[in-house]
Amino acid sequence: MGQTDSISTNASPASLMNLIRTRRSIREFEDRPVPREMIDQIVEAATWAPNHRHTEPWRFIVLEKDGDARSKVADLIYEWTWNYVKNPNPERRRKSSAEARGEVLATPVLMLVYSVPGMNDEVTHENYAATCCAAQNMQLMAHALGLTVGWSTGRLCKCEEVHAAVGAEEDWTIVGAFFIGFPASSASAERIPVDEVCTYLN
Ligand SMILES: Cc1cc2nc3c(=O)[nH]c(=O)nc-3n(C[C@H](O)[C@H](O)[C@H](O)COP(=O)(O)O)c2cc1C
Repeated sequence: MGQTDSISTNASPASLMNLIRTRRSIREFEDRPVPREMIDQIVEAATWAPNHRHTEPWRFIVLEKDGDARSKVADLIYEWTWNYVKNPNPERRRKSSAEARGEVLATPVLMLVYSVPGMNDEVTHENYAATCCAAQNMQLMAHALGLTVGWSTGRLCKCEEVHAAVGAEEDWTIVGAFFIGFPASSASAERIPVDEVCTYLN
């Protein structure tokens, strides 16, 4: 079991802010494998997220590149996209479906993250929140390692058959599909200034 008992840290506020600020969501990757140790590191970072009542409610399922599970899920996504894409033109539907399938197959690391239910609705809600914190820890550690992450709540989350295919239990809640790899592009972002979103009351 992972353990820590120190309250000291070497991270300076400036370096932490820099890490937080420069993380971007990117889903274009170099065709380069991600070492297993890096995946383990980002999952370990995830597991240090706060979680009320120490439920540690997160579950991570990594679909290995070129593996059978990845291939099965890619086929399910092709079908799902074919059925749900709004464009009635068969050629466009085929293209969208093939692109969706291709992305699932090509992504260096594909990870599905779930939260488990608690003893009542309140704990289930807290578990979901804790797993979102875990996901952000994961994204920040990935960024520190030179990787990038695209968090998706799209097709892979919406297609029920995917969850059964990867062995997720029926009462788990999907938090996201995470596309992970070394970035092949960059992105910029902006945020609303702090004084527009934060109110001090006295
Ligand atoms: C809960 C959640 C769900 C998201 N789902 C998607 C998604 O389905 N597709 C997508 O392209 N990006 C998705 N994103 C990524 C956001 O679009 C992204 O964080 C946002 O554009 C801000 O960009 P940044 O992360 O680079 O700061 C999601 C992010 C979160 C937190």
